[in-house]
Amino acid sequence: MAKRTNHTIGLDIGTSKVTCIVGGPSDEGVLQVLGIGEAESRGLRKGVIVNPDAAVEAIKRAVEEAERMSGVQAEEVTINLAGSHIMGFNGQAIVAVAGRDREITADDVRRAIDSACAIQLPAGREIVDRLPQEFIVDDQDGINDPVSMTGARLAVKVHIVTSPVTARQNAINAVNRAGLIVADMILEQLAAAEATLTEDDKEYGSALVDIGAETTGLCVYQRGAVQHTAVFPLGGSHFTNDIAFGLRTPIPEAERIKRSVGCASSASLSDAQRGEMVEVPSVGGRAPRQLSRQILCDILQPRAEEVLMHVSDEIRDSGWNRQLSSGVVLTGGGALLNGMVETAEQVFDAPVRVGYPERDRFGGLIEDIQSPSWAAAAGLALVSQRAHALEQRTGSAKRGGSGRLTHFVSKFRNRFSGSIS
Ligand SMILES: Nc1ncnc2c1ncn2[C@@H]1O[C@H](COP(=O)(O)OP(=O)(O)O)[C@@H](O)[C@H]1O
Ligand SMILES: [Mg+2]
Repeated sequence: MAKRTNHTIGLDIGTSKVTCIVGGPSDEGVLQVLGIGEAESRGLRKGVIVNPDAAVEAIKRAVEEAERMSGVQAEEVTINLAGSHIMGFNGQAIVAVAGRDREITADDVRRAIDSACAIQLPAGREIVDRLPQEFIVDDQDGINDPVSMTGARLAVKVHIVTSPVTARQNAINAVNRAGLIVADMILEQLAAAEATLTEDDKEYGSALVDIGAETTGLCVYQRGAVQHTAVFPLGGSHFTNDIAFGLRTPIPEAERIKRSVGCASSASLSDAQRGEMVEVPSVGGRAPRQLSRQILCDILQPRAEEVLMHVSDEIRDSGWNRQLSSGVVLTGGGALLNGMVETAEQVFDAPVRVGYPERDRFGGLIEDIQSPSWAAAAGLALVSQRAHALEQRTGSAKRGGSGRLTHFVSKFRNRFSGSIS
């Protein structure tokens, strides 16, 4: 068996499925995909674990499949942080630079970030991520890494993500019960962004919308940093339920119809396609009926508009709607619904594309993960690989330094390495 530290494992514990990617030793920052595993997920509701036994089983099945394919024994995994109770907001603080020569140290940076995050949280909530957006040294703003600069005052703006303590703890417990250790936890839509957004997307402004089964995650990038995040309790299962209810057909049939002939944009179908008939099985032993694809569209399009309007309103309220030069990127299984891009372009009034794991960041079994529904797992493996590379370069003593990447990838390491029960 290969040495553990040479492999990085992304484990995306979703409401509809658990996906696992084993990445091999890297060349020039490219993640070699050695094995993948996927298992139907039961035991989660709106992104959080509500039935631990079922979740543990799904995790084991997905990880075992990826282990078999890669020949790698999984030990440490980087997992997603999800759930509709996750909240993000921005904080800021100013500290005096401590050293006599006024040279900013990693310690000053840490103090500034700690001070920006020193906020009173409601009982049962905790900070799960701290993402520095920008540093300001005296009056000079727009600084990414102020270490070794000279100044009297250091200000920082930080995006702070909070979550209920129990949601994180239950995810860690389930992973531990599956025989694994959590090395790191990353907000799911940020992981999807790591796999699918380019540096230009992040710099010039973009919004990533990860449409899962019961939740939709949003993150907005500008000037290379996360400016806003949100999670909505809406997702692909609402589309399926609408079909089941509207066409009076069982849920599994509604899911099948949605995936095969469903469309969220009437305008993207030709007249002939709109008129195509679809056989819809009935409930209670009644004969199946024939309905046109237009009727299916009439059900799905308003739902797509509703979900996307929530996201669009959030972006507008956060003040970033005029600064999305790179447009909107859709990931998650929900992005696979036909017509989503067209309807999203209408709603956001911006260019929209489906996000696939970027080909220049992955090697090996890349074709197997070329789907927006693999974006989160791919991003988790990538973040984990960068953390390993950083550790090897700087040594673990320097972990938690000043760089944005350092903060992004290594803050949780060790903290989550609970005992395997
Ligand atoms: N081909 C498809 N067409 C339409 N919807 C799809 C398709 N594939 C998956 N979905 C939907 O995507 C959702 C699951 O997305 P996923 O990102 O895997 O969710 P989660 O992370 O919550 O498990 C489900 O609601 C499913 O119906
Ligand atoms: Mg997901």
